[in-house]
Amino acid sequence: MHRRTLILAAGAAALVAAISGAQAQETVKVGLILPLTGPFTAIGRQVETGARLYLQQKGQTVAGKTIELIVKDDGGVADATKRTAQDLIVNEKVSVLAGFGLTPLALATAPLATQAKVPQVVMAAGTATITEASPFITRTSFTLPQATEPMADWAAKNGIKKVVTLVSDYGPGIDSEKAFSGVFTKAGGQVENLRVPLANPDFSPFLQKVADAKPDALFVFVPAGQGAQFMKQFVERGFDKSGIRLIGPGDVTDDEVLNGMGDVALGAITTHHYSVAHDSPENKAFVEAFKKASNGTRPNFMAVGGYDGMHLIYEGLKKTGGQGGQALIDAMKGMSWTSPRGPVSIDPQTRDIVQNIYVRKVERRDGELYNVEFATIPNVKDPVKAAKAN
Ligand code: DHB
Repeated sequence: MHRRTLILAAGAAALVAAISGAQAQETVKVGLILPLTGPFTAIGRQVETGARLYLQQKGQTVAGKTIELIVKDDGGVADATKRTAQDLIVNEKVSVLAGFGLTPLALATAPLATQAKVPQVVMAAGTATITEASPFITRTSFTLPQATEPMADWAAKNGIKKVVTLVSDYGPGIDSEKAFSGVFTKAGGQVENLRVPLANPDFSPFLQKVADAKPDALFVFVPAGQGAQFMKQFVERGFDKSGIRLIGPGDVTDDEVLNGMGDVALGAITTHHYSVAHDSPENKAFVEAFKKASNGTRPNFMAVGGYDGMHLIYEGLKKTGGQGGQALIDAMKGMSWTSPRGPVSIDPQTRDIVQNIYVRKVERRDGELYNVEFATIPNVKDPVKAAKAN
């Protein structure tokens, strides 16, 4: 080969190597693991759309690096979540793991986050102890005790004396049952506890027990998306005409399925951290953009967990100059911002989210059903960890 051609070829090869090297350095990978098939698909889709929307609005670049979002489906099965997380850590070298649609999925991944020192941002799951499973876990969803204790306070102060609780029989359901029963009985109320299986629940035999007990109110926790099935059986058993009030954390009347429930849902009182009807300029913009990105689907509290989770990752990376690991989880501690749900912060001690909890009533407005907020309990910390700290 001619000498000049050789030099040119070598130069071109060096240039290619330099460019690809720079590109490799300039990418920060975020692994988003969610149930995108199976019975909990609605949760995964809400979180994914929220997370993608944030990046679309902000742009993919932070601290001079490109954020590469790698979305994986775990089908809602914990073994798959763990295997996927392992692959993302080892082969993709992700700087952050995020998502986690259900408690067992978040818990299965926690030991990997600790071993690999990779921050794990829980955007959906709600059992209180999750953040204690690894010092690399932080959370932008909520905890069931955080959302539930205000419900017990409200019930005790509003003439409700006898309650039956009906919860999905796993972490968040048990958390909500304990949080409600503890506060409500301390206030002088009477409670009976029922638990229904998480998978393919048939509420009918439990609703028969509720009818027999004749409580003033039925307290329900089912995960997002299962409220429609519950409500169908609630009507079939004539509960809408029974005078028994429906109360609970806001998962049962989640904004995606609420509108399809019909008049039976009217008057249900719930306490939660997000309503699509939250009256703020940030939320109006969020709801409009989310609907545009999802063929008109309403965002629910899962969507806002995904959106805020990406915000936390983005702002954390901005602070560390794109570095992950211990620096990133440290940067996330104490961060505060205005979310579509209202003001939020990350508790620097527990890495859990501190946020307002709203008391809401299902009402019809402009022909659609909404959880309309009518009271606010500001800056609520997870009460389980707050009690341990005292
Ligand atoms: C969890 C899942 C949900 O869908 C929900 O609404 C609340 C909690 C969970 O598994 O932690």
